[in-house]
Parts: sequence; C-alpha cells; structure tokens
Amino acid sequence: MNIPDRLLNEHYGDRYFDVVDALEEAKRIHIGNARVVERVNGAPLTGGKKIFRVGETGFGAGRLLVALMGSLDAGGVRGAVIDYHTVELHPITAERMGLILYAFRDRAGHYIDRLIEAYSRVDAATPGLHGAAIAGDFGVINLRLYIGEALSMVESLGSPCAAWFLDGHAPKKNPDIWRAELLSAIGKKTERGGTATTFTVAGHVRRGLEAAGFAVEKVPGCGGKKEAVLGTMLNAHP
Ligand SMILES: C[S@@+](CC[C@H](N)C(=O)[O-])C[C@H]1O[C@@H](n2cnc3c(N)ncnc32)[C@H](O)[C@@H]1O
Repeated sequence: MNIPDRLLNEHYGDRYFDVVDALEEAKRIHIGNARVVERVNGAPLTGGKKIFRVGETGFGAGRLLVALMGSLDAGGVRGAVIDYHTVELHPITAERMGLILYAFRDRAGHYIDRLIEAYSRVDAATPGLHGAAIAGDFGVINLRLYIGEALSMVESLGSPCAAWFLDGHAPKKNPDIWRAELLSAIGKKTERGGTATTFTVAGHVRRGLEAAGFAVEKVPGCGGKKEAVLGTMLNAHP
C-alpha cells in the first residue's frame, strides 16, 4: 500500500492509522468493544457529573479523542467529565495534526477543530504533563497530555483508569510500547472491571495483559483487522 507521507510516523516507520477506516475503527475497537458510551452514561453522579477516566498509550494525532467526542454526542451523553490521560514521546505540530486528520473533516470537522484548538494551547515541545479542556454537548474532556515515555506517564497517575486505549503502533515496529513491564504498570492503574482495548492480537501482547491481571478475549475488529482484543481487569486497585 502506498502510504501518504503525512500518515507515516518517521520514528517507527509505521502509519498513525489507516486513513480509510480509522474513525470507524476507533469507534468499534476501542469505544464499542469496551462499551465506553454506555459506561459513561451509567457512571454514578459525583457532584452532579459523570466522571470517567480514560488512559491512552500513543496520543499521535488525537484520532481516538475525535472518535470519542463523536461517540459521546451520538450516544446522548450529557454532564460527563472525561479525564483523558494520554502520552506522546514524539509530539507533532498542530499543523501536522490538521493534515493527518484532514480525511475526516467531512464527518468530524467540528471535533477536529476543538481538538486542534486545545492542542494549540499546549506547549508540546516541553516534556511533562500538560492540560487543556475541550467542551462539548456531552460535557467536558480534560485532556491530560504527558510528553514523554509511556511508563513515566502511567506511573505518575494518581487514580486508576476505567478504560485504556492501547494504540502505540504495531508490536513489530514498536515493541517497547507493548513490553510486559509497561502492560503490568497499566494493569495496576486500571480499576476493577476496567478495560484495555487494542487492535493487535499478537500472542505476547495478550499474554502480557493476562499477566497484568486482565481477562483477555478476542473481539470483533474492523476493516482489515478481523479481530481485536478486549481485556477486563479482574483485580481491585485502589
Ligand atoms: C499509532 S500512533 C497513535 C495514534 C493515535 N492514537 C491516534 O489515534 O491518532 C502511536 C503513537 O505512540 C507514540 N509512541 C510510541 N512509543 C511511545 C512510547 N514509548 N511512549 C509514548 N509514546 C509513544 C508514537 O510516537 C505515536 O504517535
């Protein structure tokens, strides 16, 4: 396949995503398989808000966040506070983000604009934790973007997440982001009954998730990926 230059992450020789199905893929593999919209809707009210914590390995161009905003609105979510903890080792510019997401403008233009507006307020060239809020009909997403290595971000989390989106390039192109040490740390930062979803069904990734405390199952994929993975945390973490 001929990969447009803008989609290639030069640090890994791998695409950020498949441009044809990428929004749909995010909605099915990460949001649908983990029933994120239903879980946000069912979250207990804290101070009148539905608080839900998401973790992501590999912020990239923010496509999963764009897909999440669309799914929350389509699912009729209101009054949600989504704490979205994500990490990026090689941040891109806001201009490049716009080019990468351009293919989805017809379907998700206003979400892309909100994401880029928030990302433009972040000094992504500076390592460490950055924050920006993105408001929508669904409520608010508190973007907590950690510029640095994934393990540092995971270990810095004060509270466990309800849903993890593992999206850090193909294991053969980027074995580091699938290493057992990182998956184990993610397991410890997942609440009981919380989920981890990913597009890869590689055996060592599934075994790493099991060793981290997740019950792992193969679930429907999307487009060229017939199967994906859903892990559900069996252990309780404070
Ligand atoms: C497949 S892309 C992410 C796509 C993104 N979720 C999206 O929807 O636009 C994977 C991202 O993980 C980042 N990454 C790879 N290894 C990393 C690591 N060890 N720590 C933090 N980020 C990493 C890459 O630079 C890349 O931007």
